[in-house]
Amino acid sequence: MNELDALVDSARESFELALTPADLENTKARFLGKSGRLTELMKGMAALSIDEKKTLGAAINRAKQAIEAALNARRQALSDAELQAQLKAEALDVTLPGRQRGLGGLHPVSLTLERIELIFASMGFEVAQGPEIETDWFNFTALNTPEDHPARSMHDTFYVEGGTAAAPNLLRTHTSPMQIRHAVQHVKRHRAALDAGQGMPEIRVIAPGRTYRVDSDATHSPMFHQCEGLWIGENVSFKDLKVVFTDFCRSFFESADLVLRFRPSFFPFTEPSAEIDIQFQTGPLAGRWLEVAGSGQVHPNVVRNMGLDPEQFIGFAFGMGPDRLTMLRYGVNDLRLFFDGDIRFLSQFQ
Ligand code: FA5
Ligand code: MG
Repeated sequence: MNELDALVDSARESFELALTPADLENTKARFLGKSGRLTELMKGMAALSIDEKKTLGAAINRAKQAIEAALNARRQALSDAELQAQLKAEALDVTLPGRQRGLGGLHPVSLTLERIELIFASMGFEVAQGPEIETDWFNFTALNTPEDHPARSMHDTFYVEGGTAAAPNLLRTHTSPMQIRHAVQHVKRHRAALDAGQGMPEIRVIAPGRTYRVDSDATHSPMFHQCEGLWIGENVSFKDLKVVFTDFCRSFFESADLVLRFRPSFFPFTEPSAEIDIQFQTGPLAGRWLEVAGSGQVHPNVVRNMGLDPEQFIGFAFGMGPDRLTMLRYGVNDLRLFFDGDIRFLSQFQ
């Protein structure tokens, strides 16, 4: 009897020590299997008397039931533990904030270009687009720029394949070729009326886009943006240039008393000419002047290249730098930051 109690205790202990279901089934064989201790005891009963068989048999049965109960309890405990471990391993924390897909946004210079188009549209200007690969004619010659002008040198201009030696192709160095391209189309449409002495609707256009120069410092990038403006009519003066450009800048910067500086300058395609400066209102360069545009009254030779009579038609043009306007608007001190593609910088402007 004592041996049976000890056997049950030993089975319980051994089952507790089994840490996996496989362990447990192995341990079970030692107690309940064909060559387990209980089977051995039962075999040993053959030599006993009937009464002894009854008593011992009943005791062995109770022991067997106790061991089976311990085994089942342990099986259940192991399978519960396994389930818990699996639940823990596969747990989803539904309270964690979701991983959001970042919202895209417009580049700060694109925001500036949108603003420029909106403001000039409100002043009755059309928007025109032109090619970035230009011919020597549109980029220089038609704009009254002489053969020996420094802008034509390889130091300043990216020449590309195509074209001829006499008229090479290049990446446009400014948006001014659009003055000629747009005006020529406009004049073509109104040729008949012009020839009949009926005049034509005024040319009033802006032409934003990418431009290229061999240039790189805090206010110059090899790829940059310009926005050309052109207003040609029979009575458009330099005063109109000052009014239009000043109005534009005051709208753009939302500052009614913004001061502009018109600084006498030279361009082959305008006479007189002025460069236009604006002061930083904000950022590390606050108070510093920055050139934002070149401008002037369109040169008679250029008016002629548009297909118009310079005795009858006159007007102004400007070419401004949207990248510089973006610097001024946000107080950024290095324009090349706009083109480095660093999302940490660019996402600040959303
Ligand atoms: C011109 O390009 C003339 N075509 C402007 C013009 C048009 C004059 C019509 C008269 C009539 P300029 O080289 O100054 O001018 O450039 C004009 C503006 O473009 C500059 O004021 C500046 O805002 C911007 N700009 C020029 N080079 C760069 C550059 N490398 N990076 C960024 N902005 C530039
Ligand atoms: Mg300049």
